[in-house]
Amino acid sequence: MSDSIVERAAPAQSGYQQLLDDLPRTGPGTKGGEMLRRYWHPVCLSSDLQDIPIAVRMLSEDLVAFRDGQGRPGLLGIRCPHRLASLEYGQIRHDGLMCSYHGWKYDVQGRCIDTPLEPCDSQIKHNIRHLWYPVEEWGGAVWTYMGQEKENPPPLPKIDVLARDDGVVKLVNGDIRNYNYLNWMENFADMGHATILHGLVVRDIPDELKPYNDYSIKSYSPLPLEHVETDFGMKTVSVLDTGDPQVKFVNTWSLVVPVHWRFSGIRSGFPPDFTDERQEGGGMIRIIDDTHFELFRYSLTRKGNFTGGWLFGLPENLKGTVEERPYDKRRYKGWEGIPALEDLVLQESQGAIPERRLEHLASSDRGVVMLRRIWHKAMADVAEGRDPKAVWRDAKPMLEVDTFHGHIHVNELKIGPDNMPSSRDGAGLIRDKEGKLVFA
Ligand code: FES
Ligand SMILES: [Fe+2]
Repeated sequence: MSDSIVERAAPAQSGYQQLLDDLPRTGPGTKGGEMLRRYWHPVCLSSDLQDIPIAVRMLSEDLVAFRDGQGRPGLLGIRCPHRLASLEYGQIRHDGLMCSYHGWKYDVQGRCIDTPLEPCDSQIKHNIRHLWYPVEEWGGAVWTYMGQEKENPPPLPKIDVLARDDGVVKLVNGDIRNYNYLNWMENFADMGHATILHGLVVRDIPDELKPYNDYSIKSYSPLPLEHVETDFGMKTVSVLDTGDPQVKFVNTWSLVVPVHWRFSGIRSGFPPDFTDERQEGGGMIRIIDDTHFELFRYSLTRKGNFTGGWLFGLPENLKGTVEERPYDKRRYKGWEGIPALEDLVLQESQGAIPERRLEHLASSDRGVVMLRRIWHKAMADVAEGRDPKAVWRDAKPMLEVDTFHGHIHVNELKIGPDNMPSSRDGAGLIRDKEGKLVFA
């Protein structure tokens, strides 16, 4: 154990095991759940919320999202407090949501505003305050804050890709996973897997690109990684030599606690295609409960150089590019070859809530350890009444998560919490209109 990161870097053993038990929990009253309730979370896309209520499970609570007749979004407990019928089948009214069973009606703040079967002088509605959470609609999504300060929540941080107006923004949801959300978040702090898992099927690299990139296990194992804690979470950076001593291949990944990730600049010099597109990609998680979450993926493609579609997400039939063998009895057959599917398969295989106390962390897990330390501090801050990391009381105009991916000249290389290569700079090796590789 002498070289174990657990022993050297983690909190005291029993405290560390307690952390591993607490962290994946999402329900009210749990340490993990109380920490998550200090942040804004995505509920659904704005476009999903029309004139039918939507049942949404959020942080282990069953809720219903709706938009009243005035267009105001609301989020209430799903069970009508009268006789517990589901408000998923409620009726949209001008001033709220009416339960279809006996007509009790609730406004967006859970006030009961009508009980039509009761006598005119009944006061019962004044004694009913249904479960409600504040919501905001911004950036194409509906967001909620499920903490105790729901009358006065901190401002919703405006995440940069969704706030920017210098390109085409896409936001898609619907990819639901049946395991704990931390499997996903830790995967983004664990970028050593990129050269192994995503290098299982070696892709052909054209000869002209070989001086700049040979993204294979042999060249880049172990992958040199640096981890940098930031005010929003952390970044992981890899700086790779290329065949040209003046050129480095730089890749950064960002995590914003608790539910955003970014692997952006994905098409700016993304090997091996090197198109002239400039896209930033990432997303956020809707945490459903301890063993389920939904991915909301977002991307920004710069104006003026959009030439193709967005290439992320899962293949519809959940198949990779490797030929399926008839004797393969595994759930995912022929799964290798598509990075998004490779991540799904391995994250799911860790277990719905992994038995993390059985892990043997090693030097390649420094990013995972950094992320767990960040979570640990966030849970302690909440337990002791402080705001955790990435909660800002003053409205941030924009949360910059700018994340670079591409080839740059060595004299432009900078690494630090506030001093990274920027995907906004437009630096990088790309293909020009004639198809030649040039530095932008
Ligand atoms: S159960 Fe909803 S009004 Fe009766
Ligand atoms: Fe991956």
